[in-house]
Amino acid sequence: PKFFYDIKGSELFEKICSLPEYYPTRTEISILEQLQEDLLEYLDESFRLVELGSGSSTKTRLILDIFEKFQSKMEYFPIDISDILAESSEILQSHYENLHITGIIDTYEGGLEFLKNYDTKKNLIIFLGSSYGNFSPENGVQFLKKIHSTMKSGDLFLIGLDLVKDYSILESAYNDSKGVTAAFNLNVLSRINDELDADFDLNNFAHHSVYNEQSQRIEMYLKSLTNQTVVISQSNITIPLRKDELIHTEFSHKFKPSQLNSLFEDIGFEVKHIWCDEKKYFSLTLLSKK
Ligand code: TRP
Repeated sequence: PKFFYDIKGSELFEKICSLPEYYPTRTEISILEQLQEDLLEYLDESFRLVELGSGSSTKTRLILDIFEKFQSKMEYFPIDISDILAESSEILQSHYENLHITGIIDTYEGGLEFLKNYDTKKNLIIFLGSSYGNFSPENGVQFLKKIHSTMKSGDLFLIGLDLVKDYSILESAYNDSKGVTAAFNLNVLSRINDELDADFDLNNFAHHSVYNEQSQRIEMYLKSLTNQTVVISQSNITIPLRKDELIHTEFSHKFKPSQLNSLFEDIGFEVKHIWCDEKKYFSLTLLSKK
């Protein structure tokens, strides 16, 4: 999934986030607006904010607004794979006079490694959106273990998870009427064309997404519309594709509220609080290291 987010992909994803069909972003924002008072109880002046993936600064600002209530000097460490980090940090900086940003353009793993043993200041690590769902269950657990091992005692971790709901709501969230999601999915082929000298003809592929109820996940594919052969010159790869053959690009796993406690506790986290919206579309869980 990280290969979706070049500059163009990051811009398209921002557009997805404001689509009427894509409920996760606005639902999560509404939860963040409500947990302000609650979260305040867990924080003090010894915390900095660390964010995995710095996408839309709307959500970051909701958290920084909480910090601003009790800190005269705020520290923010965004970790993001995309160069868009420089731009988004500048915008954020202009909103807060007393904010010190240390941007880390790297993978989450690389950024977390940097954070480990960095200093004694406490970290509130946030991982918002439904990115966690893009991991396979096994890799997700590995990733949570990595975060757990990076944390000092006293650190906190806030994670967003999208919840299981009616499949028609899920499927339209991942296949909007304006075709923005399709453009986002197809952009990964443009990227391969540009960066690996390949010859994908984007007119010969269509976005395809489907909810797999048993595996609790939306499955994203690019469907070949004809029999065709694609060459990725830089890697010396020739790929024959049949009509209707699928290229898997991403899974987006959804969770049941009843699965959350054991997911985190099995790794050694203590669940401090789980917040949901009224419709139970989305969840935010606050964790500490036991
Ligand atoms: N992390 C996002 C999610 O799972 C990514 C995403 C949204 C996505 N729409 C998409 C990925 C369409 C591929 C295609 O919700």
